[in-house]
Amino acid sequence: MITKEKILKGFETAESRWARFGPYYAMFPLEFAFDVVEKYSKKGDYIIDPFAGRCSSIYAGGVLGRNSLGIEINPVGWLYGTVKLQPADKNEVTDRLLEIYRRKNYYNRAIKRMPEFYRICYCDEVLKFLLSARANLNWKNNNVDATLMSILLIYLHAKLGEGLSNQMRMTKSMGMNYSVKWWKKNNMTSPPEINPCDFILKKIEWRYQKGKPKVTESAVVFGDSSSELINISQRALNNNIKFSLLFTSPPYWSITDYHADQWLRLWLLGGNENHKSLKDKYKGRFVNKEEYYNLLDNVFMHCSKIMKEKSVIYVRTDKREFTFNSTLEILKKHFPKHKISVIEKPLTEDTKTQTKLYGDKSMKPGEIDIILKK
Ligand SMILES: C[S@@+](CC[C@H](N)C(=O)[O-])C[C@H]1O[C@@H](n2cnc3c(N)ncnc32)[C@H](O)[C@@H]1O
Repeated sequence: MITKEKILKGFETAESRWARFGPYYAMFPLEFAFDVVEKYSKKGDYIIDPFAGRCSSIYAGGVLGRNSLGIEINPVGWLYGTVKLQPADKNEVTDRLLEIYRRKNYYNRAIKRMPEFYRICYCDEVLKFLLSARANLNWKNNNVDATLMSILLIYLHAKLGEGLSNQMRMTKSMGMNYSVKWWKKNNMTSPPEINPCDFILKKIEWRYQKGKPKVTESAVVFGDSSSELINISQRALNNNIKFSLLFTSPPYWSITDYHADQWLRLWLLGGNENHKSLKDKYKGRFVNKEEYYNLLDNVFMHCSKIMKEKSVIYVRTDKREFTFNSTLEILKKHFPKHKISVIEKPLTEDTKTQTKLYGDKSMKPGEIDIILKK
């Protein structure tokens, strides 16, 4: 039987290879996700995460025998989550890759009109291939296409040699102008010559080498928790399902909307080729205090209706005053009979916070865990 220790140590099982699937800004350290699931739930329990990100909580629940349900609004996080819970068969993914690669020559002309950013970021072969994937993969509705697309998303940008791009960060896409200036300043205006088909074939080979993970029935819904939870809670009540653990990390007020820092991956999913177009689309809820408060209030209110009386609520959030105080106030309001404890995690150079993983060194005052138990 698979254990937490086996999953967290190395890459010797299918469960450990897929556990780390998908770099994402502000993700849970994997060990933390497994620890919380193991400590606060048991096999057969139901777990929910309404702000699932790349779905480490849901995946930990699924491989440890819990039925887990996530909701995620960002298609990048949703794709990583939905695919790692249920990757398509390797042969089908490989066949689809070859098909997308064969169609790349339809994009010979299209690459010529792409902004300078793309021409420096990718060699012609890679850019044609990406345009072919962008136009042809039906990632929303087809599991084979979703699996291939999520693998492409992982390697879309990374350190030189580790992905399909010129030198870039892996978790977060930098702005177009910033990147172009940086490449020029560092004499890196020639993108690496890569055969995208060979490159991705090797990545598929490695990912599937130990097979597919065994996951207890679990899923992640693509959408806005504040509306999706209306249906979810109705269905749970109809089926007499009550959740034992609510384990989540909501967005932090005014920090990021999770779209701007994924703009290049969102482009591959069909979004605008100019990252500035995203700027204001999702911002409202994350800079406007009232909207932010209402989002959390609404989501935790819906969740409270489907939790068992003796449930555990585990929320990792930002130490900063507004986010922390709002979250605490809302949790107290919707779980009035639970006992609250707060674990402060002082930030040191070595602390692996979710925002610091993958080398993001921007200013972070740290995270705090709020735990509610009966
Ligand atoms: C702090 S991150 C969670 C990271 C996650 N724990 C992980 O390990 O990847 C918060 C997530 O909430 C998502 N989110 C924000 N608003 C949402 C909403 N209304 N409905 C669903 N997800 C939302 C963001 O896209 C982001 O992925």
